[in-house]
Amino acid sequence: MDINSIQTQIETDLTKITSLAALEEMRVKYLGRKGLIAELTSSIPGLELQQRGIFGKQVNALKNTLLGLLAEKEKTLISKDSVLKQSNLDIGMPGIAQELGHIHPITQIIDEICTIFNRMGFSVVGGPEVETEYNNFTGLNIPLEHPSRDAFDTFYLKDYAKLLLRSHTSPVQVRVMKTQRPPLAMVVPGRVYRPDAVDASHLFMFHQIEGFLVDENIRFSDLKGILEIFSKSVFGQNIKMRFRPHFFPFTEPSVEVDISCIICKGQGCSVCGRKGWLEILGAGMIHPNVFKQVGYAPGVYTGFAFGMGVERIAMLKYGINDIRLFFENDLRFLRQF
Ligand code: DAH
Repeated sequence: MDINSIQTQIETDLTKITSLAALEEMRVKYLGRKGLIAELTSSIPGLELQQRGIFGKQVNALKNTLLGLLAEKEKTLISKDSVLKQSNLDIGMPGIAQELGHIHPITQIIDEICTIFNRMGFSVVGGPEVETEYNNFTGLNIPLEHPSRDAFDTFYLKDYAKLLLRSHTSPVQVRVMKTQRPPLAMVVPGRVYRPDAVDASHLFMFHQIEGFLVDENIRFSDLKGILEIFSKSVFGQNIKMRFRPHFFPFTEPSVEVDISCIICKGQGCSVCGRKGWLEILGAGMIHPNVFKQVGYAPGVYTGFAFGMGVERIAMLKYGINDIRLFFENDLRFLRQF
């Protein structure tokens, strides 16, 4: 076979190669164990003696040229452009972003509020959502048949006569005081349940944070001071507070606490119903009957308690007008926090 024509053949073959796979095929065709070069080499012994040396050298030279050409071609194919073409990779296409989740806005507010109280010396404790009828009502001075039970009505567990879904976080007061002696300073975040029809401001499940402090000589002014630090930390140093007389069975005296409207700064707007004030929580001095229920000797301890709805605080803070948004799991909403 004519070495020169083989070389020409190789060169034309190479021009048609456009992929590394094809190049590899070509390498095998010429340089493989049964390839052309091997074939030529094995034909040497059959040649006449003087021919062998010359032909051997030619085959060797051909092999070297071939190796050089293949290496060169490989380099061009590997160059960026051709790799991209072969893999159909579109470097202009947006990548697959790995989205990070984040903490739910309600949990964020709970964390923020608990941190504020924690700094003032309150510990954070939990309690069960399935509660006894006693802890949810009787222990909190809400006797059976008393009309104030209606305000805290809840879901009862049918098969367990005395169990229910707690309708507030206040029963944790009873749990803690039954097992621990003052001084006590705690906040209790958690879910509560009420058989309310769902609308923009009501859900059958929401979150509350309860707080209470019990010791000797605790006064209403202590409650005021603590709540003032709390509301200014959450809503800003410039807000004003007001305490309105109210009724809760488990506190006496009881109050509802308002802050000056964070939207209109007290001027009166649609958010505060033209009142200039927003209600943020209920509070009071713990009723002597509650101390009696948990077995504290009368007259020894005094204390205050308060309870707030977390969704309400979050709605006021962020200007959200529908409580359902928190639980629809719509990322367009949740991503904003
Ligand atoms: N438990 C009350 C509620 O769910 C909130 C509350 C009011 C808690 C006054 C308190 C308190 O501890 O002193 O509406």
